[in-house]
Amino acid sequence: GQQGVCILGIFVADLAFMGDRMPKIGETIAGSGFKMGPGGKGSNQSVAAARAGAKVTFISKIGRDTFGDVAQKTWSAEGINAQVGISDQDPTGVAFIYVNDKTGENAIIVYPGAAGTLSPADVDAHAASIRGAKVFVTQLEQPVAAAQRGLEIARAAGVTTIFNPAPAERFPDAFYPLCDYIAPNESEAAAIVGFQLDSMEAARRAGDAILAKGAKNALITLGERGALLHSKSGSVHVPAVSAGSVIDTAGAGDAFVGGFAAAIANAVAPAEAVRFGCTVAGISVTRRGTAPAMPSRAEIDALLAKVA
Ligand code: RIB
Ligand code: NA
Repeated sequence: GQQGVCILGIFVADLAFMGDRMPKIGETIAGSGFKMGPGGKGSNQSVAAARAGAKVTFISKIGRDTFGDVAQKTWSAEGINAQVGISDQDPTGVAFIYVNDKTGENAIIVYPGAAGTLSPADVDAHAASIRGAKVFVTQLEQPVAAAQRGLEIARAAGVTTIFNPAPAERFPDAFYPLCDYIAPNESEAAAIVGFQLDSMEAARRAGDAILAKGAKNALITLGERGALLHSKSGSVHVPAVSAGSVIDTAGAGDAFVGGFAAAIANAVAPAEAVRFGCTVAGISVTRRGTAPAMPSRAEIDALLAKVA
C-alpha cells in the first residue's frame, strides 16, 4: 500500500551570512558570521519529514559538482531515498542568505541551477514514487509546470497533496482543485488573495478566498502567531510553539511543512498534525541553518509532551 512522503523540489547549498544589516548597492560591509549548509525548500522539507519519522522520497535534479556532493551526503545521512537526476550542463543550486544577527530574520536569493530545468517529463519518470506515497508535497522553487504535473499524478492516485506556494510566484488556478492542503506563509497568502493578513479575521478571510478557488484546506502559517487550518467544516488556529529564543528563522516554513506532512503520512489527525508542524518549526528557529536545524523525533515528542 501507499506509505511515507514523496517530495518534489530543489536542493541548494545555503551560503548564510550573518550581519547587523543588508549592504546597500555599491557598498561592502563586514559580516559577523558565515555558515554553509544544505538548503532548498524541498530538500529541507525532506530532512524535516525524515527526522520526524517518515519514510521520504525526494525528486529533484542537481549538478555534477561540489555542492552536488553535499546534497548526496545529506540525503544518505538522513535516510532519504533520492530520486535525483544529475546534469552535466547545469550546476547544483545555491542560495545567498542574509540573517540579521539581532532578530534572526532573513532575506534570500535562491538560484535553482539544474533543478530549474525540471520538466513535466522528469516528473513523469518518477510517477511510481509519487503514486506509492501517502502524501505528496511540492513548492515553487522548480518550474511551475513540474509542480503541477506532480500534483496531478498524486491526485489521480488518491495521494494526499500538500502544495507550499513558496516562493510567492504566480501559478495557474488549475492548481487549487489539485490541493488537499495549500500551505502558504503570511506574505505568500497575501500575494494570493491581494490583502494583508494583519488579524486572525483577515487570515480566515484569506482562507475563505483560497477555499473558493477549489482547495480542500487552506493551511496558512503566521510566524509567531502560529498557523491557521481553514476548511469548509471549520477553522482551527494553532498557536506557535516556543522552544527558546529565536536566532534564525530561515527554513522555519520548511520545518513546518515537513513536520506536518510526516504527521499526516503517519495518520495523525489534521489539527494535531498542525500542532506537530508548529513544534518542528518552533525548535528549528532556535538553531542556525535550515536543514541542519531540523529536530529529531525525540526532541519533537519531548516538546509536545511539555506543551500539552
Ligand atoms: O525556505 C528556506 C530555503 O529557501 C533556504 O534553504 C534557501 O535555500 C531557499 O531555497
Ligand atoms: Na534555523
